[in-house]
Amino acid sequence: MRFETPAGPNAVDRSTVVGRPVRRIDGPRKVTGTAPYAYERHDVVADPAYGWIVGATIARGRVVRVDAAAARAAPGVLAVLTTLERDALPPGLRTTLPLFGGAQVRHYHQAVALVVAETFEAARAAAHLVAAEYEAASPRCDLAAEAAGAEPVADRDGPDYPAVDRIGDFEAAFAAAPVRLDAHYSTPDQTHAMMEPHATTAAWTDGRLTVWTSAQVIAWHRGSLAQALGLPKEDVRVESPFIGGGFGSKLLVRADALLAALGAAAVGRPVKVALQRPLIANHGTRRAGTIQRIRLGATRDGRLTAIGHQSVNGNLAGAFAEAAVAPTRLLYGAPNRDLSMRLATLDLAEGNDMRAPGEAPGLMALEIAMDELAETLGIDPVALRILNDTQVDPRKPGRRFSERHLVECLRVGADRFGWARRNPVPGAVRDGRWLVGMGMAAGFRLNLPFPSGARIRLARDGRLTVETDMTDIGTGTSTILAQTAAEMMGVPVEAVTVRLGDSDFPEAAGSGGQFGANNATSGLYAACLKLREAVAARLGFDAGAAEFAGGAVTAGTRSVPLAEAAKDGPLVGEDRITYGDLDKDYVQATFGAQFAEVAVNRFTGETRVRRMLAAIDAGRVLNPLTARSQVIGAMTMGVGAALMEALAVDKRHGFFVNHDLGGYEVPVHADIPHQEVIFLDHPDAVSSPMKAKGIGEIGLCGVAAAVANAVYNATGIRVRDYPVTLDKML
Ligand code: MOS
Repeated sequence: MRFETPAGPNAVDRSTVVGRPVRRIDGPRKVTGTAPYAYERHDVVADPAYGWIVGATIARGRVVRVDAAAARAAPGVLAVLTTLERDALPPGLRTTLPLFGGAQVRHYHQAVALVVAETFEAARAAAHLVAAEYEAASPRCDLAAEAAGAEPVADRDGPDYPAVDRIGDFEAAFAAAPVRLDAHYSTPDQTHAMMEPHATTAAWTDGRLTVWTSAQVIAWHRGSLAQALGLPKEDVRVESPFIGGGFGSKLLVRADALLAALGAAAVGRPVKVALQRPLIANHGTRRAGTIQRIRLGATRDGRLTAIGHQSVNGNLAGAFAEAAVAPTRLLYGAPNRDLSMRLATLDLAEGNDMRAPGEAPGLMALEIAMDELAETLGIDPVALRILNDTQVDPRKPGRRFSERHLVECLRVGADRFGWARRNPVPGAVRDGRWLVGMGMAAGFRLNLPFPSGARIRLARDGRLTVETDMTDIGTGTSTILAQTAAEMMGVPVEAVTVRLGDSDFPEAAGSGGQFGANNATSGLYAACLKLREAVAARLGFDAGAAEFAGGAVTAGTRSVPLAEAAKDGPLVGEDRITYGDLDKDYVQATFGAQFAEVAVNRFTGETRVRRMLAAIDAGRVLNPLTARSQVIGAMTMGVGAALMEALAVDKRHGFFVNHDLGGYEVPVHADIPHQEVIFLDHPDAVSSPMKAKGIGEIGLCGVAAAVANAVYNATGIRVRDYPVTLDKML
């Protein structure tokens, strides 16, 4: 099905199942330990061997020699593979990380060897016997030091977003503005810190590879593995039915999958490889730290006349920039604009996608800047944002937002949060030892239309089975797919089985960039239309006139149970949603208003979040229960970004020091006392037949700035370098 014009009324609008708070259909399996993760596939793989990755101990240079003799002779060891015995990866993979192969070392903990042994313990013990010799060069790993040499870089989102994006005359407008702000902000490197590490079990049968791995996008993993191993895609099967989180770290294939496959080939039996925690930070990907300069010029009554946003970050050569200026393109109107990004080369693990890439760190800066400007102007921060709302793309006034209800988010959120009770004077509210403050920020994140396929089968007993290589990374995707099928076919959600994450199933959008929910359900919507046609043909109905409801197919006075259609054999509907060019005329995006109340200890500088509220505009809400879980999870992540999360770089050796869950702090339940989420629920006919948009990332956008602004309101201390830790309160 090609989606080319805004959706009219359709079956999903009935909202008998879609839009309801259906509990996760995979919940019981998750909490009873019967949803296997990639490292635990004892159900399908007998007698696996265990691999342990040996990481490089330099960040830049060459491997000269790897002596594996002692490791090979160690008890239980089956094989040792070294990077010098294999060519570097072919170009064109969806990753710039050198996963394995060749002498060149581009970052710390790049895989140098894989030890395969009878047991996990034997592999780990023998790994210490692998001796690698290096020619080391001094690593570039200090962004502030390398920033001067950074080069202009375009956004990977395409030619629409050039390296330097200028409209009007920024310099003149900024110079002439009666009220100005010019400030620098920084955001640190972050690691994804998902629960389930990268892990793979790999097995070969007759030259064909099967990997049970932890992947957000099955097709990307399959394609990269096939390319890395020199196999046709058809000879690689990737399965990822359950996933313990990803946040972007599992969009692309990592060394665990490649090395499990190579290890399994070497020893002639299945091999399991997980990335131990330290390797996730140093060998996986990170959210790249940024240094950002923001300049805002405004009239005395608060209208923005000039917006300047410059961002620099560092990455491996050939990798892309963290698009921190992305939200600034579209969040506020202003006739004069100057946005640009530069990229320095750093010898650190690849900077790549992490939840709301671009927008999350960009808003961490922009939304503090707006708070500072509001104070300078003497205008309420909510009012300043309302005043500068735009309903069109500021760069292309003929292109409007399909649905944009940021102002309603701000108004409803402020009202429900009790924003009117905020004292605008910083440091004025005390509660015993605590200074109390409120802060807010706007949130913005694009909605991305991606092709997505699905198949649905009606069995003799009336049960429906959905099959797609879509993944559920803990987001509730399987549940909204079941709801979509139930709504479209007119059956209860219990009548639907959902099978995900298998490359033998139709190719879906995958989970990432908050593009999973809308696209995957739309692909299934299209497949359901096909199944409806098949059912109608079998039963002698006109597909257009038949109504699918209450477990029956009805037209006029004739009503037949749905299961009747399959009594002589199952019926299958399969299709794929693709998109036309509605994006030419419409910007599709999601919006949020984030509010936070914090208390800062007067004596220790410790910050405690007291309560948070988000008002979210993200199209039709497919399931308010799972959508809320997405948003409160994202708000929690935003508190981490505001107050805790930062990878610390050892600048001599070029590695992240706090490379485990003990040293890299993220919020726990005790850090998050109260969160409220309001959904505006405005269906977006431009997004898809589902009229939904992404929800997985908008909940994070603006949160950290809201918390930082609340800290300022509490204390009068403006911290522009994240995280806002207590040493910066002194
Ligand atoms: Mo998301 S950062 O695209 O998983």
